Amino acid sequence: MSTRIYTKEVMEHFRNPHNFGKIKNPDGIGRVGNIICGDVMYIYIKVGRNNKKREIIKDIKFETFGCVAALATSSVITDLAQGKTLDQAMMIGKSRITKSLGGLPPIKLHCSVLAVDALSEAIYDYLSKNKKQIPGDLKLKHDRIQKELNIIEKRYQEYTNLEKEILNNVPKNKKKK
Ligand code: FES
Repeated sequence: MSTRIYTKEVMEHFRNPHNFGKIKNPDGIGRVGNIICGDVMYIYIKVGRNNKKREIIKDIKFETFGCVAALATSSVITDLAQGKTLDQAMMIGKSRITKSLGGLPPIKLHCSVLAVDALSEAIYDYLSKNKKQIPGDLKLKHDRIQKELNIIEKRYQEYTNLEKEILNNVPKNKKKK
């Protein structure tokens, strides 16, 4: 893989991702899909309190089924969010992620949005499950992300149906090859 496309920070996170995996009994799960490429990312969080009794991200892990940039951005967002209050974590944006990675190729900038969305969704999931107040902009973001996930799932279903149809129409002797 060419390191000329990506910075050394991106390649380092890609080769040795931080906080990769699942959390047992997470307090919140964020699942998002990228409308452009169809890649999928999960972020799991455990919520605790700091010494000022404010809710913080006590533990965070991720699983990403996507490209080099998606893996690096999810790894870096877990580093940035760890120990932060929920409000601070919600403010981590794509420019902060890209800066921490020393930049991303313009064609890969949408991958950093996926990481931001996954973290927002994990926080949304925690707040809604615990019947806590959800900030208006987080709710709007959640609605947009769900809409995009539905589009991806619909496209995937259409593709699977089309593939089945093609396979059913292949003459039997060709199927064997
Ligand atoms: Fe799909 Fe990067 S190309 S997330």
